[in-house]
Amino acid sequence: MSWRGVVEEFRGFLPLDAAWEPVSLREGNTPLIPVPGLLGGERELYLKFEGMNPTGSFKDRGMAVAVTAARGQGARITVCASTGNTAAAAAAYSARAGLRSVVVIPEGKIARGKLAQSLLYGAAVLALEGNFDAALALVRRLVERRPDVALVNSVNPYRLEGQKTAAFEVVDALGGVPDYLAIPVGNAGNITAYWKGFREYRDAGRTPGVPCMLGFQAEGAAPLVRGVPVEHPETVATAIRIGNPASWQGAVAAARDSGGGIFSVTDAQILAAYRLLASRVGIFAEPASAAALAGVLQLERTGRLAPRARVVAVLTGHGLKDPDTAIDQAGAPRHVSAEVDALEEAVDHWSA
Ligand code: F0G
Repeated sequence: MSWRGVVEEFRGFLPLDAAWEPVSLREGNTPLIPVPGLLGGERELYLKFEGMNPTGSFKDRGMAVAVTAARGQGARITVCASTGNTAAAAAAYSARAGLRSVVVIPEGKIARGKLAQSLLYGAAVLALEGNFDAALALVRRLVERRPDVALVNSVNPYRLEGQKTAAFEVVDALGGVPDYLAIPVGNAGNITAYWKGFREYRDAGRTPGVPCMLGFQAEGAAPLVRGVPVEHPETVATAIRIGNPASWQGAVAAARDSGGGIFSVTDAQILAAYRLLASRVGIFAEPASAAALAGVLQLERTGRLAPRARVVAVLTGHGLKDPDTAIDQAGAPRHVSAEVDALEEAVDHWSA
């Protein structure tokens, strides 16, 4: 039977009313891609490519469940603050469910693909002079006065319920837990969700243990590493340009209780991993996603990764989300004249 999406595939693990009709775009079931040779020694690396979800990011898992609940509970409108991916997913799943969607984004600071998606899915896209943290504070105030509007940021517990299903898939695909689960951290919902998923699968007897959780923030937006909110977060990885994560405690607990940690990586490390992923592995993921690989490489280099470890890194979003950064990093195409000599010269030049 073909894959039915996370609500139906994992309903037994989700706190959903039986009367609520699932909202789905057949999200989930994303590939876990082995990447031999990238880590040293006998370490094994797998990449969970969440960019293969219907709107191109892991948010679809959470949004399928949150919008199922919102519609089930009678909401007419969804609202979210977003650095772009939540907005795209909220807009798509709201369209699917027949709900209106309003998304609030930091003006000028979201990747073009994400903006294009939200607009075309038909959301009201509101650009705020201010960052993600300010946008989230604003939408939280709105829903206090409007019971007909459902907040679909990850402060909505259904979002985390949906996103935890990725942990189930990792265990199912590997036939057990990895030693490490590496993940980029912005608003900190996803690391909280994975940690919940791994514990629930263990408690249900599906797997004997849990992985060590490794979260990675961008150095210019690393409140969890610094231990205090960052007022003006900055990073090339705009998806995780967040200074005061809503799930702060969840991320700290995941790192602490699993024996892992939250670390930071520089924009230069993020971009190096971003290029490496594409040019050496053949995977086009967005910059924020590359933070997880950058972090794993950093821990390996500094001798903090066990020698025979099995590592899963989550690639949270697709590279097509952010074409501007890709072209900025890779350069523009070179001109060739319509002559075979010129083409041959270019071939030789390129393969020299
Ligand atoms: N990677 C990508 C591609 C993201 O879009 C996000 C978050 C994260 C990682 C971090 O996940 O917030 O659960 O810690 N994007 C949110 C958004 C904030 O609005 O799209 P997190």
